[in-house]
Amino acid sequence: MANIEIRNVYKVFGAKVPTAMAMLRDGRSKVEILAETRCSVGLNDVNMSIGAGQIFVIMGLSGSGKSTLVRHLNRLIEPTSGELLFDGQNIVSLNPQELRSFRTSRISMVFQSFGLFPHRTVLQNVMYGQKIRGTEHEQARAIGKKWIDVVGLSGYEDRYPFSLSGGMKQRVGLARALAADTDVILMDEAFSALDPLIRSDMQDQLLDLQKNLSKTIVFITHDLDEALKIGSEISILKDGQVVQCGTPDHILSHPADDYVARFVKGRQIHA
Ligand SMILES: Nc1ncnc2c1ncn2[C@@H]1O[C@H](COP(=O)(O)OP(=O)(O)OP(=O)(O)O)[C@@H](O)[C@H]1O
Ligand SMILES: [Mg+2]
Repeated sequence: MANIEIRNVYKVFGAKVPTAMAMLRDGRSKVEILAETRCSVGLNDVNMSIGAGQIFVIMGLSGSGKSTLVRHLNRLIEPTSGELLFDGQNIVSLNPQELRSFRTSRISMVFQSFGLFPHRTVLQNVMYGQKIRGTEHEQARAIGKKWIDVVGLSGYEDRYPFSLSGGMKQRVGLARALAADTDVILMDEAFSALDPLIRSDMQDQLLDLQKNLSKTIVFITHDLDEALKIGSEISILKDGQVVQCGTPDHILSHPADDYVARFVKGRQIHA
């Protein structure tokens, strides 16, 4: 299990980063900064504390910075400034070799568009994380088969992704992340492309699995119902800033501002 601390993280995209950062610190808006500098503000002084073993949901409308933030956690994006601490270690300062090992052993990702290797079978996809860590073939196969079974895809080991439905592909994506045996799993809109019923099944399965696994799961969604159902804690982003962070219960009962209040109007906590 891993504890993640995100401290004062800023991300500005564009050519005039110092000017844009100075404007941000002066309290100028994302729109003003874009108009004056052509720079896009991805994240603006984000602070979050993601406790080990919880499903932490990051929610917000399109363009609020969710993917930008999650890509910082596996260092696909470098922060303009700030710290990202995994169990106290700042991952921003990892050297290339440490970064490779961090990515293979500590963190795995489930993508909205599945991200499966089309020319590999279900089993080869699921074994992948173990293989690149150097696990011996038979052992990697056994681990792969175990997780394929857990997500309910036994019998499909030799199939190729093109022959699977969306829900099945995402089960493979989930099995692949679980088989990699990392402390942290990042899920960026992982269930958003699925039909409502399949999506609800996947949410239930994730909650069920988490009872035994206690991984640190960072789950991105733009859907409040999904956030309320699966999150132990929810952080709401708007224009790259955290507007509220708290338990589903707290967010429903004490929305921090009108933006959050509009999201939660008429909603209830799932049983
Ligand atoms: N590579 C990039 N270059 C320039 N601007 C970017 C880049 N990546 C993200 N942005 C900007 O950063 C902001 C946040 O984008 P991001 O993709 O993180 O949002 P999101 O919350 O994931 O949205 P969605 O729900 O649509 O996936 C947006 O204004 C976006 O235009
Ligand atoms: Mg996104």
